Amino acid sequence: MAHFRHLISIDDLSRADILYILDRAEEYEEIAMGRGMGRVLEGKLLANVFFEPSTRTRMSFEVAMKRLGGDVINMTAQEASSVAKGESLADTVRVVGKYADVIVLRHPLEGAARFAAEHSEVPVINAGDGAGQHPTQTLLDLYTIRKESSLDELKIALMGDLKYSRTVHSLIKALTLFDAEIYLVSPPSLALPEDFLEGVRGKIYTAQLDEIIEEIDVLYVTRIQKERFPDEEEYKKVAGSYKVTAETLRKANRSLIIMHPLPRVDEIDVSVDRTRHAKYFQQTFYGVPVRMAILSEVML
Ligand code: CP
Repeated sequence: MAHFRHLISIDDLSRADILYILDRAEEYEEIAMGRGMGRVLEGKLLANVFFEPSTRTRMSFEVAMKRLGGDVINMTAQEASSVAKGESLADTVRVVGKYADVIVLRHPLEGAARFAAEHSEVPVINAGDGAGQHPTQTLLDLYTIRKESSLDELKIALMGDLKYSRTVHSLIKALTLFDAEIYLVSPPSLALPEDFLEGVRGKIYTAQLDEIIEEIDVLYVTRIQKERFPDEEEYKKVAGSYKVTAETLRKANRSLIIMHPLPRVDEIDVSVDRTRHAKYFQQTFYGVPVRMAILSEVML
């Protein structure tokens, strides 16, 4: 059951592995809320190596580590590290692995985390590799669904930038393990790339939100990933092309939950924040117990 050395892709985990992590996260929830301190990671050191911006992933790993008795070192700005002098990713992880017991890596290039793991003496956790994967986000997304809705007979709509959003890419693969009904809702130019669905088995349909809003249990919204567009003009063509408002939800199921990996730009109106459906800030909190469970797996 579980016990993996690196966490690079959600494809590396079975359904049983995922459920095991979610169960462990449940056990850590009280400590994640600051009710008591854990000690299981005492003496361990995590290195955050981020080549792209982050608020939630970086900080929740830090909180998870510290609340379990461990400590954290950060390498955030490329300009302030020897990467600016031309040090390779392979050498960077070799060196950081001499200081820390685990490396949490975010990098703009798809495949960077797998490459880093091949050169690292310590476990590497993928905190997002370009438009590739974001497996720890997927685990906290599944945890949120299990806590706030249900993973059984789930009907979920994935809305927004399905082309570049790594959170969606990871989540779809995991959802197929749970036999979910998945609706893809996006502007045509941001549709999920067809080759992505090769080898992905499941009930996956394209839809318009108003056709399915009464049916779905979860609406998972993503922002347009501006930083992944090859040029600004292409981005401008779709910017602001979709938005969820309180009015959009008028016909929604009472139990519908709305999730978003955040940050949001303008795709969920603030009027939604006050509704019973909004779970995206709670989702952010769930990152802490889930990352506690992941850290325990790779280091203990
Ligand atoms: N959800 C997420 O990855 O957020 P950050 O970019 O702030 O880490």
